This record gives sequence, C-alpha cells and structure tokens, in this order.
Amino acid sequence: TRLAIFISGTGSNMEALLEACEEDDYPAKPVLVLANKASAGGLEKAKARGIQTVVVDHKVFGGDREAFEHAIQAELEKHDVEFIALAGFMRVLTPWFIGKWEGKMINIHPSLLPSFPGLHTHQRAIAAKCRLHGCSVHYVTAGVDEGPIIGQAAVPIFPDDTPDTLAARVLVAEHKLYPACLEAAVSDDQNSSYVQMSDDPDAP
Ligand code: GRF
Repeated sequence: TRLAIFISGTGSNMEALLEACEEDDYPAKPVLVLANKASAGGLEKAKARGIQTVVVDHKVFGGDREAFEHAIQAELEKHDVEFIALAGFMRVLTPWFIGKWEGKMINIHPSLLPSFPGLHTHQRAIAAKCRLHGCSVHYVTAGVDEGPIIGQAAVPIFPDDTPDTLAARVLVAEHKLYPACLEAAVSDDQNSSYVQMSDDPDAP
C-alpha cells in the first residue's frame, strides 16, 4: 500500500513508521511525507531516508481550508497515494477531505480515547488524577479525535509525573503502537485490527 505521512513537527512518529516500512514484509511503502510548514523538523529526517517530501503551507491559502486541501489532494494524486497516516499533524481537516479518505486515513492521539480528546492531554490526565494514560490510533472521521479505534497502548501515571515526564513515557508507547496499527489497517484484516498494548511495569 502506497503510504503518505503528514507531519507538522519533529516527526518522531513518522520515523517509527518509516523504520517499520523498511521491513521487507511490512505491507506499506512510504511514497511521500507531507508537512504543512517548511520548519517541520521531520522533513529533514524523511529526506535523510530518501523519502519524497513536500510542503503545503496552509498559511499560503489564508483561511481557505478547502483550497489548502485541494493542494494536498493534488500532491497525493501525483504520488498515487493509497493510504494516509497523520503523525503529529496539527491541522483540522474538513469533511470534504475526510470524506475522500474515509477508511484510508488514520491518526495517533496521545490519550486513551474517548478520554481527553483535543490538546494538553498529559496535563489533563494528571489533573484528573488518572492512574493510567496512553495513546490511541484511530480512523479519522469528521469529528476531531473520535473515529473508530484501531489500537491503544496504556502506560502508568506515577505520583511525581509532570506533563513532560508523562509525555515522554507515552511517546515511547506511541512509537510501538503506531506501526502495529498501521499494519493492521492496511492489511484491512478486521480481526487483526485489534491492537492492545500495556506497559509491563516489570518489562526491562
Ligand atoms: C505526539 O504526542 C503525537 O501523539 C501527537 O503529536 C506529538 C508529537 O508527535 N500527534 P511527533 O513526535 O511529531 O511524531
């Protein structure tokens, strides 16, 4: 499956996906990394791995979301993209674009959905005195962070955690969860698209 990865920032999840794609039997081939800003650190990492990159800067289109998304769609068609993985992509997509890619676009969110959709999830989980937190990979639907869940990974919250220490623990789990969920989704094998990981506190 010809895969595009969308980023806005450091792209650590993108790197984890690109790493997985290098395995011979992995069912996705990364053909494009797309960023909505030229300053996205992940662009350099993608180039270093020989992956085609493109910047479609949303600011160029003012507030016109559909024009921005038509430009993205043109790039996807140019590269015959079949599947999209959002990885730290911080733009909300309109129902027009989501409708075109329903069932072929997934996202990773740093919480155990449906808890804590939206931003600042680690701070909110700590404030809510949760004992477990984690990350979710889901199909992208019109509602933000609410599509069908493909997989989740849980991590403990410790009493002395700060949003940063918790975010770092979740990010490690994200890098394991996302490649497994992408594989399940592109394999379109409904049974295998049930990915569950929990941090084994005794794990090395
Ligand atoms: C991660 O917490 C991810 O869950 C969220 O963006 C953050 C940064 O991801 N989507 P990355 O390092 O840019 O992949």
